[in-house]
Amino acid sequence: MFFNSKNIEAIQLKSLLRITRAISHVRDLNSLITLLASETSKVLDVERSTVFLHSSKTDELWSYVAEGESEEIRFSASHGIAGSVFRSEKTLVLNDVSKDQRFNKAIDKTTGFITRNMITAPIINPSRVCIGVFQVINKKDDNFTTKDVHFLEIVSSETAVTIENVRLLESRERMFEDLIKALTVSIEARDPLTAGHSFDVTFLSGKIADYMNIDCDIKEAIYYAALLHDYGKIAVPDSILKKPGTLSEDETAILRKHVHHTKIILSSIEFEGKLEQVPLFASQHHERIDGKGYPDGLKGDEISIGGKIIAVADVFEALTAKRHYREPYSLKKTLNLLIDGIGTQFDRKAVLALRDYFIDIGKLSAEEVPVD
Ligand SMILES: [Fe+2]
Repeated sequence: MFFNSKNIEAIQLKSLLRITRAISHVRDLNSLITLLASETSKVLDVERSTVFLHSSKTDELWSYVAEGESEEIRFSASHGIAGSVFRSEKTLVLNDVSKDQRFNKAIDKTTGFITRNMITAPIINPSRVCIGVFQVINKKDDNFTTKDVHFLEIVSSETAVTIENVRLLESRERMFEDLIKALTVSIEARDPLTAGHSFDVTFLSGKIADYMNIDCDIKEAIYYAALLHDYGKIAVPDSILKKPGTLSEDETAILRKHVHHTKIILSSIEFEGKLEQVPLFASQHHERIDGKGYPDGLKGDEISIGGKIIAVADVFEALTAKRHYREPYSLKKTLNLLIDGIGTQFDRKAVLALRDYFIDIGKLSAEEVPVD
């Protein structure tokens, strides 16, 4: 924690503890900063709080959170009180803004709000870079006090650390996703005719999961599992993978081993927390509801939800795409084949979800793909 409890009242301390607890639970940056702003307004008894962030591209300050305003406020970072505090990196208390020439009246004119007094504190990140300002406006009954200034400076520090942490987390997640996509591209590059298969399967799996109201965390695991479901094909020789004709028994056995390789390779990647099931989901995309699938011959609910969904998306994509040995099937023919496979090859809910999706986007009518 960054605050010195001697400087702040009990109510302020309570509020800071509430904010700190929220920071450790909420991961969405906008919700966090909105919470910081509303708690600050309550504790300091002001009409509104605004958090301006600096855009280094345009050298402007823009309102990341502006209580009471639906429209974004944006202005040059060298203008107004906010601009002055941003440049000087020093907190400024104004108990009567009309007496300060730096006050930018244009913003009040645009918003219709009347500013009387304010404290503006710089938001300085742990690397000592000023990334914006935190402004509290119009103390309701009184002038601002030194304790108010201390409180706002503490909240500004919390804001800076929060922004930094969330940005770091987001950039790590982006890097992870890019890395997984690069792996997917590398396997797709093996065969130009099946290029795009994994990305299409990922898209369709997402749609099926949406229509089945699957929980967000499981959906994220399905996303990565779908991207990497065929990664094990990296261990299958070109002579088998690209063979235009029918495969021999031995060749089929080698091709089928790709799910085993997928599981081994993905298990060596540290998928943790909500992504823990990625290797399992990916390695079950050739299992069948009747137990005649591979590699483990699992039946019904022995197959994970991710495995069931990716299996439907995988077969759908394979049938509707051109292959070395045949032309693509029509949408109607493919969906009817999937419907025929309900209860033997495929999970009922997953097939119906895909059917509903194509009906909803107007690609075909319910009569063209009847279900018993
Ligand atoms: Fe596969």
